[in-house]
Amino acid sequence: GSTRFYDFKVQTKRITKVCKTRDIVTINGMYPGPVVYAQEDDRVIVRVTNETPYNATIHWHGVRQRLTCWSDGPAYLTQCPIQAGQTFTYEFTLVQQKGTLFWHAHISWLRGTVHGAFVIYPKTGVPYPFPDPYEEHVLVLGDYWFKDLQKLEKRVLASGGGAPAPDVYTINGHPGPLYNCSKNDVFKMDVIPGKTYLLRIINAALNIEFFFSIANHKLTIVEADGEYTKPFTVEQLMITPGQTINVLVEANQPIAKYNMAIGPYMSALFVPFQNISAVAHFQYSGASLTSMALPAPLPVFNDSLPVKNSMDGLRSLQATNLPLEIDTDLFITIGLNVEQCNSLTPNKSCQGPNGGVFAASMNNVTFVRPKISLLQAYYDRLHGHYTDDFPEVPLKSYDFVNGAPNNIPNNTQSLNGTRARVLEYGARVQLILQDTGIVSTENHPIHLHGYSFYVVGYGTGNFDPMTAEINLIDPPYMNTIGVPVGGWAAIRFIADNPGVWFMHCHLEIHTSWGLATAFIVKNGEGPLETLSHPPADLPRC
Ligand code: C2O
Repeated sequence: GSTRFYDFKVQTKRITKVCKTRDIVTINGMYPGPVVYAQEDDRVIVRVTNETPYNATIHWHGVRQRLTCWSDGPAYLTQCPIQAGQTFTYEFTLVQQKGTLFWHAHISWLRGTVHGAFVIYPKTGVPYPFPDPYEEHVLVLGDYWFKDLQKLEKRVLASGGGAPAPDVYTINGHPGPLYNCSKNDVFKMDVIPGKTYLLRIINAALNIEFFFSIANHKLTIVEADGEYTKPFTVEQLMITPGQTINVLVEANQPIAKYNMAIGPYMSALFVPFQNISAVAHFQYSGASLTSMALPAPLPVFNDSLPVKNSMDGLRSLQATNLPLEIDTDLFITIGLNVEQCNSLTPNKSCQGPNGGVFAASMNNVTFVRPKISLLQAYYDRLHGHYTDDFPEVPLKSYDFVNGAPNNIPNNTQSLNGTRARVLEYGARVQLILQDTGIVSTENHPIHLHGYSFYVVGYGTGNFDPMTAEINLIDPPYMNTIGVPVGGWAAIRFIADNPGVWFMHCHLEIHTSWGLATAFIVKNGEGPLETLSHPPADLPRC
């Protein structure tokens, strides 16, 4: 491969959306940020200079960072923040990776405006496993607030209550004409009748799972999270924050202007609920520019059927390295809960339900970020920053027989801690992710750093090893899995990439509440199985 060099300047930029002007944090003044283009097996070097007063880091979401954990980017997990005026250069190789991924800030809620597409083409001469599209387009979906995100985050976390709904949804930064005062702020894609287009759809939103559809057009899914899938056609799809989906769309309808629309799926914790859609145009050449665009229907916000349908259709084109046998079998509950306001919840104004405070946990442990990076503490054997006793089963007994989703006794409390789970090099791991559904009924998009994983099963209700259907033939290979509302997902991977790898809900508010944990994967025997030394310019805390 060759080397791709990018220069990222973290900068504030004054922008106006929907007639409201504010300063947002960007890369190089762009919202969304610049697209990073590369080819499979390329070396990528991105120099990030922070010209803002805020702390920053950048994460390369979906890049597996083979032996380069130091360049992964989550703050206090693999590095300390890049402070005002500092520079850090991320360097990694896209080992056997291609497709659509993205990058985003990974500290506080900065990624709300600091994100962009990461497009990796196959090696020269290697075709797509489908007919070449006439053109390709990136669609970055986002959520946007009129309030300053840094202040909003502080206020929400101090309140102990839920996050407010975003003010606007955006497609490539544009809200579209359905909002007041944004008639002309529309992303437009010009298409030629009879041609086929590849859309690289990225959900970069902080907190919103989106339905997506195009009026009168079918979507053929050919890739998810940067891995090819067997082609599968749907009318509407759902994409969670952290997921990327490539679809082929054939411009085979009468010449006209068609809407491409996004609207929310679920989001029970957002009050008031915003059932409005952002719209872009899929515009045939020859269509009258002044004509109305045809509306794109979206499912109602709590309709889980289209979600299940598009999930059921996701099958790997080729499942290589799928562990058929497992030697490390972990059960991890995903829980939101309301803690009573007491001495354990200092600095909160207790505005959650019943005067409590929202919290979140995995196996009843609310993840607390350490003061220095966990990777550095591990690498330098520094004591007192974390413990390696993340529980193998929930701390509070999980009642498989009586504990139905939304009604699980004794499973509501959590303990704060920075507790990691150590995995032997080469372990064949299965994780059962079980939503406990105590407080809200939401789909939790769980994202694992450093790996893609096979989603070998999922379902509603409680995981039952006797009846669960497990697909060991062609499960999809993903980096973010929407664990169904009140349900479970089973994922498998081989722990062959040493380092410290964060796993968390990609709804940012849930990560803030502690819905996260970390894996420490040990080194293997040879140099090709050993974590690299820290880069010289790695930011220190
Ligand atoms: Cu896309 Cu830990 O993040």
